[in-house]
Amino acid sequence: MVAPEPPHPYPRPVDPPAVHGISATELAAALGGERPPLLLDVRPAAERRYARLPGDRHVPLAELAGRLGELPRDRPIVTYCQFGARARQAAELLAREGLPDVRPLEGGLDDYARTVDPSVGRYSAPSGAGPLVLKQLPRVETGCLSYLLADPVGGRAVLLDPGISPEPYLAELESHRWSLAAIVETHTHADHLAGHQALHQRTGAPIYVSRRSPAQYPHRTLSDGEAIPLGDAEIVVLETPGHTRDHLSLRVRDTVFTGDTLLIGSCGRTDLGDGSPELLWESLTEKLLRLPDETEVLPAHYGRRHALPERYVTSLGFEKATNEALRQGSLDAFRTYMTDGWPPKPADFDAIVAANLRA
Ligand SMILES: [Fe+2]
Repeated sequence: MVAPEPPHPYPRPVDPPAVHGISATELAAALGGERPPLLLDVRPAAERRYARLPGDRHVPLAELAGRLGELPRDRPIVTYCQFGARARQAAELLAREGLPDVRPLEGGLDDYARTVDPSVGRYSAPSGAGPLVLKQLPRVETGCLSYLLADPVGGRAVLLDPGISPEPYLAELESHRWSLAAIVETHTHADHLAGHQALHQRTGAPIYVSRRSPAQYPHRTLSDGEAIPLGDAEIVVLETPGHTRDHLSLRVRDTVFTGDTLLIGSCGRTDLGDGSPELLWESLTEKLLRLPDETEVLPAHYGRRHALPERYVTSLGFEKATNEALRQGSLDAFRTYMTDGWPPKPADFDAIVAANLRA
């Protein structure tokens, strides 16, 4: 007799039900139509003081599963949050629970305020959200940029793409008495040794990488739309494969950390490791370029030819108008751009990739 196979030690991933988002302009039309949807705010109560949609109902995402009985089943529901990620989680939960007509507001309250009704207000930092402190930490020896993002009220910080030496980051954390809540690698680096493991050993902070990362060290994975909370903000994940398959960009309020997907004036190369010009073009045009033009762009590299100003930053609108990669206009032209005119590959890039993935 064959013994039954023991259960797999890891939960099987659940396919989320297909929910279709509603854009801000579609929502505006629906609200003026015959069957206006119930607007369901799923943000924590603290966020409602910054901005909200009139006539809505409020059930925080964390309480939603236990309060299903309060929601109508005979009326369309539109869930909303600041940028859309939590609204999608909420809509998927409600669809799984059998509510027949639930749609998340794509782009969230932020997009609604920007494109439909400015009187709703956007609650990015100038309108009163809790402060976040951002420190751009350049590494002149490699031309790389790390970022320390902190909630000074809660005393927690998140570090993006640390360099190999943990000391500058530890000194920064200690000087502000911040604890390190998370280390995030935007992708597997091929040009420099990464410092996530050294920092993890010194601080105990978990290391987050893409679900597509082949990392062999202990880590937590991130997927598109997931978020790492920080104070009353969220670091929202955008999967932007192309420079590498495991590349993530991270959006926080009106800022996007683009790693090596979008650099100032250019983009990351696709010929070191598992990159793909086709995927990169899609990530640039279908993901990053859909963000508002005023979005602040913070890349993971600065060219050695650039003098480093106090903060090396650009805006998406400026890059749309000037960036060589974005101005290619078609995938065919972009493919050519990505194959011609790049400097020689670093001799040791595959050894660096292997070292950065090793446990
Ligand atoms: Fe890179």
